[in-house]
Amino acid sequence: MLIDTHCHLNFSAFKDDIGDVIKRTIDGGMRVINVGSQNTTSERAVKLAKEYPGKLFAAVALHPIHLHSTFVDEDEVAIPFQTRAEEFDPDFYGKLAQEKETVAIGECGLDYFHVPQDVDEQSFKKKQKEVFLEHIELAEKHHLPMILHCRSMKSDPAAAYMELLDVLQHTGFTRGVLHCFSSTLNVAKAFINAGFMVSFTGIVTFPNAKEVHEAAKWIPLDRLMVETDAPYLAPQQVRGKRNEPLYVRYIAEKVAELKGVPLEDVEKQTTENAERFFGLE
Ligand code: NI
Repeated sequence: MLIDTHCHLNFSAFKDDIGDVIKRTIDGGMRVINVGSQNTTSERAVKLAKEYPGKLFAAVALHPIHLHSTFVDEDEVAIPFQTRAEEFDPDFYGKLAQEKETVAIGECGLDYFHVPQDVDEQSFKKKQKEVFLEHIELAEKHHLPMILHCRSMKSDPAAAYMELLDVLQHTGFTRGVLHCFSSTLNVAKAFINAGFMVSFTGIVTFPNAKEVHEAAKWIPLDRLMVETDAPYLAPQQVRGKRNEPLYVRYIAEKVAELKGVPLEDVEKQTTENAERFFGLE
């Protein structure tokens, strides 16, 4: 009875067979949080949640890579794409946040990995922090938790994370989950010790992700959640394929193996964590 706490069935990668994917997800006993990244995908996450009440839920936000037009091309992403620049509109996202199907503000945060064209480093970082602060205000206003996205520059793997934590700590906001954990044990410790949750994607199943394995071993089970981030980051067993919510099982299995506990314990505890964190029935 796992919950995929972060996926994107609202993205175009699922446009041809969304009904089939949702059917086998629900038949598999799962619940899913579809996460928005800009106005169109946030709206669609809410629409899907209304169509499948109690099974699909929504998170809404403007992802930092959509603040500027950026070319995104990575090996774990099925289709390289050019992002569309969008100005953050608090009224638009505020309306979506009021919907009862919306259980979080996210994904938002800092992304220093994808560097926009024609913008200097100082100003794109400044803009990301400003917009992130607006998202924190939105979460506070609507009493919602946050799904935090963070990626550093390759040259300085911890920097963006520590800057994100710094912004959060200045506001006192702690109801957040650091999603798609892919950093170091020290970064995991910093977020856990500051009161945040951490969630793992298929990256934890990759044999060379040693730091991520160390973090999964260390993080207490009551502070940890699992997610697919589908269509991206398919687990090792299905690597290269389009990811989908049912594959969250591979992530739970790997966490159980790393922690040396039964799979049932990971299933039960991560589901309870997600229900508590997102306020699911
Ligand atoms: Ni995502």
